[in-house]
Amino acid sequence: MEPNPDISRLHLDLNRLEAATTQVSIKRPREFTCFSYDKNHNLHLDDSSLKWYYPPQAHEFPANLSAGYEQFEKHDSSQDEHLDSLLTAITHHEQQTNQLIDAKFVTWRGMMTKFFCAPYSNDDFEMNATLFQDCIFIEENWAFKRSQEAEDKKNWKSPLAPELMQFWGYKFETLATIPRPWGETPRETIESRDSEIVNNKEQYCSIVRTAIGGKVMCLGGEVDAIWDSKPKTPGAPINWVELKTSKVNRTHKDSFAFNRKLLRYWAQSFLLGVPKIIVGFRDHEGLLQSIEEYKTREIEEAVRREWKNSTNWNWRPWVCINFTSELLDWAQQIIKADPQQSGVWRIRFRKQTNNVELFKVEETGHGRILTEEFVK
Ligand code: A3P
Ligand code: MG
Ligand code: MG
Repeated sequence: MEPNPDISRLHLDLNRLEAATTQVSIKRPREFTCFSYDKNHNLHLDDSSLKWYYPPQAHEFPANLSAGYEQFEKHDSSQDEHLDSLLTAITHHEQQTNQLIDAKFVTWRGMMTKFFCAPYSNDDFEMNATLFQDCIFIEENWAFKRSQEAEDKKNWKSPLAPELMQFWGYKFETLATIPRPWGETPRETIESRDSEIVNNKEQYCSIVRTAIGGKVMCLGGEVDAIWDSKPKTPGAPINWVELKTSKVNRTHKDSFAFNRKLLRYWAQSFLLGVPKIIVGFRDHEGLLQSIEEYKTREIEEAVRREWKNSTNWNWRPWVCINFTSELLDWAQQIIKADPQQSGVWRIRFRKQTNNVELFKVEETGHGRILTEEFVK
C-alpha cells in the first residue's frame, strides 16, 4: 500500500530520545483560575468543591474500600464533555481580567499525560485538534476512548468487576478528605466518613498556565485535595495532594508494575504542579492496608539517580518532556501551515509502529471542540 501523502508522521524513537543529554526548558505550572462540579455535576466557577486532605486514622485500618458500593453516586461517563467547562472557565477569566490568555495550546491535563507517557506506555491514543486565534485546542477522540474501554472490558481477567475496583479509588478519596479545613470540620464529619455516600460527580478542577520547550499552554485537570490552604499570593505554589490506590507490592512483578504506575502518577502531578502523591495500598480484596507519601519532585530525582547508577530498566523524565515538546512543535508546524487555518485534525498514536499520525478529518470549522459561546 502506498503511504497516504495527507498523513504526516512523527516517529517515536526511544533510543534517540534516551540518548539525549539535555532537556527542554519547562515552566512551573501556576493556577490562574479554577472551577467546581457539585454533587450533581453542575458547573460552578469557584472552588466550592475543593477538599482538604485528612488521612484515615490508625484505628480505621484496614478500611474496606468496597463498603457503600451499592450507593455509589456515579458520574455518567458515557457523555463526551469535550473542553466545554475548561472553555467556560477561561472565558470567564478573560472577561474578569479583560485580557486574553496567551496559551498556544489548550487542553485537559489528561491529554498531555498521554503524550508524556507515550514513550513507555503500551496504550494507543486518539485526539482531535483545531486551530483558533493562533492557539491549538486538543480534546480526546471520544469514540476511540469508548472503543478502548470496550476492548479493556473484553480482556478483563480479574474475578472482581472493573467498576468495583474503580470504586475503591473514589472510596479512598472519600476516606482521606474532608470538605473544610481540619479546624472548621466537626469531629462527627471526620468520624462518619466511612458511611458517607461516595460521589464522583463532584470535582475541583485547577486551571494552570505552564510551558514546555517555550510553548505556553493552558491545562485543566482535577485535583483531589489540598494539604493546608491556598496561598494568598497569586501564582504561588499550592500544596495540592493527588490520591491514588494501588495493590500492596509483594512480589518483584508488583514492584515493576508499580514503577510503571509511578510514571503516570508523576506525569499527572508534574503537569499541574501537584507536589505530593498519597498512595493508599490495598490488598486483593480491597482492604486498605497502609498509606505512603511520595513527593513528585523526589520521584523524578530517584528515577534520574537510579538511571545513572544502574542499567536496570527504568523510565526517564526527560524522555517524556522532550518527546512531548517535539510532538507539539511538529503538530503546531503542520497545523499552522495549513492554508485553511481551521478544520479538525486527528492526532493518532499507535504503539505497534510507534508513530504519531496527524491528518485532517474536517476541512473547515472547529467540530465540537470549541463551543459557539467560546468562538463568539
Ligand atoms: P485510583 O487511581 O486511585 O485507583 P484520579 O486518581 O485520577 O484522581 O482518579 C480517581 C479514580 O478514578 C481512580 O482511582 C480510579 O478508580 C478511577 N479512574 C481514573 N482514571 C481511570 C481510568 N482511565 N480508567 C479507569 N478508572 C479510572
Ligand atoms: Mg482525582
Ligand atoms: Mg486521584
